Amino acid sequence: MSNTPLDQSGVWRYREFYPFLNDLKHVVTLREGNTPLLDAPLAARYAGLKRIAFKHQGFNPTGSFKDNGMTCGASQAVRLGMGRVACVSTGNTSASMAAYASAAGLQPVIFIPHGNISYGKLAQALEYGARTLQVEANFDQILALVRVLAGRLGIYLLNSINPFRIEGQKSIMVELMDQRDWRVPDWIVLPGGNLGNTSAFGKALREMKEMGLIDRLPRLAVIQAEGAAPFYELTQRPAGARLEAVGNPETLATAIKIGDPVSWPKALREVVTSGGVVEKVSEQEIADAKAQIGLCGIGCEPASAATLAGIRKLVAGRVIDSEADVVAVLTGNVLKDPDYIYRYHTGQLEAPGGRQIQSAFGNQPVVVPNDADRIAALLEAT
Ligand code: F0G
Repeated sequence: MSNTPLDQSGVWRYREFYPFLNDLKHVVTLREGNTPLLDAPLAARYAGLKRIAFKHQGFNPTGSFKDNGMTCGASQAVRLGMGRVACVSTGNTSASMAAYASAAGLQPVIFIPHGNISYGKLAQALEYGARTLQVEANFDQILALVRVLAGRLGIYLLNSINPFRIEGQKSIMVELMDQRDWRVPDWIVLPGGNLGNTSAFGKALREMKEMGLIDRLPRLAVIQAEGAAPFYELTQRPAGARLEAVGNPETLATAIKIGDPVSWPKALREVVTSGGVVEKVSEQEIADAKAQIGLCGIGCEPASAATLAGIRKLVAGRVIDSEADVVAVLTGNVLKDPDYIYRYHTGQLEAPGGRQIQSAFGNQPVVVPNDADRIAALLEAT
């Protein structure tokens, strides 16, 4: 018998390691994963921590953590022989699904809230060839709509309610532990929207503990934007309470502008099991934290920066110890939302409701004449 993991017809022998794929021809990959773990001393100081590391999912092929799940979801769609796949998205899932579906020869159909996703993400969907439907409704309303349509039209749904995507997102935690030589951090901090990622991370960590790969669970801290914080509010009520949806969620961090997160029961279980917490942060706190991550030379999209803002708040509130070993997951690339960045640095960023965001760490570009003397004078003066 040869020692190849494939049998004569190219089928993977070790079913226990491939719980759903039995034919490697079905694998759809754009070489996702292997994202860096970056030390960020400046951000640590800002948050009041001795040190912090960012696991940066923005280094993925389409610039977000969605790719880790989409490789699995798209592979399952191929395995099932589906022709069309669909999702509703605040932008990153649609960008990722568009890319993976097109790479696999499937037709991607995406549903997005009209006028409410960043141009970077919309542009990706168009470029990757997705049939793009901008619906006059918010994320939560469109999700209900798409669940009905998918059944009626026989389209395979690749939202985070798709269990294969959640299985794929678990790999982010496995990778992280491998990078740390299986040393468990005290805290893992992530932004919370629809809460699929929280449920994936929690499941991965529990399973690694059951398998003996790690000896304890890190605590999960989930951070939401103040105007879209139904999960935070749930954790402020007595145990056993149900989530109350926010009817009109508002935040400039459009990736997490979700009022009725579908995965809340699973996410709650994971937060409780890990001894974790849920926190909420303001638009101003997100904007300033984002600028600080930028000053580390790292950068991220607004939703990702909720992590650092939340950590700062939790350190100030003595929930996270300043000596703690903290990993924050940056979920999306800095170039996802350049409009937000430009507005912040030029003092034009307005929070929902019209309140001006203070550009505490603003960096104004300067227009100069084509004149060496005047440019030299300007640079010498500052
Ligand atoms: N960060 C970014 C950059 C995201 O795009 C999302 C979710 C989250 C955090 C929250 O993750 O939903 O698992 O709690 N984006 C989804 C989308 C909703 O459609 O792209 P979650």
